[in-house]
Amino acid sequence: MKLVVGISGASGTQLALRFLEHVPQEYALFVVMSQSAKRVARTEARLDLKSTLKAWPRPLELFEESQIDAPIASGSFGIDAMAIIPASLNIIAKIAHGICDELMSRCAAVILKEQKKLLIAPRELPLHSIALENLLTLARAQALIAPPMLTYYTNPQNLESMELFLVGKWLDALGIVNNLYARWGQPC
Ligand SMILES: Cc1cc2nc3c(=O)[nH]c(=O)nc-3n(C[C@H](O)[C@H](O)[C@H](O)COP(=O)(O)O)c2cc1C
Repeated sequence: MKLVVGISGASGTQLALRFLEHVPQEYALFVVMSQSAKRVARTEARLDLKSTLKAWPRPLELFEESQIDAPIASGSFGIDAMAIIPASLNIIAKIAHGICDELMSRCAAVILKEQKKLLIAPRELPLHSIALENLLTLARAQALIAPPMLTYYTNPQNLESMELFLVGKWLDALGIVNNLYARWGQPC
């Protein structure tokens, strides 16, 4: 199985890293980061995103948004699913309007045309009507819109357990089995 993870320049690069930590080993991972994602990681977390991902403790193929000739830019490569975490309003607008001027938006367009799963985790607050309409357009194109919403029913004790809930819900949405959070009816 081939999974692409897009990291855009919305707040919360750490959520993408937490997600990458929990993708099962049997998935081949392809990561595309935007220029803005690198800037946000530096600003918010004092993190060099490229170096962090290059040293990632499991194999992954890393791409810059400029690498429009990457294998993941083609439907023939056979990507099974893509998750954009976190998703900026910019990347959402581009995908909703069919703009494919760099690798992340091109890959998302390929996923949609091939009718594979595209998960989008929009991160902005509040959301204006343009963003909401773009998200509706994507939902109608069968994208899964899954923003990082806080959980309370799982009784999270810290930020890590809140993040694990989100990652678990994203993996659920992609059909990837996980045990990252207490499900309703299970003891927390
Ligand atoms: C520290 C920081 C935090 C940001 N947070 C957000 C955010 O939460 N949501 C968003 O849509 N844009 C956010 N932005 C703005 C985006 O980075 C900007 O719109 C950028 O053009 C997005 O580019 P990309 O979609 O190519 O990654 C943030 C920018 C900075 C510097």
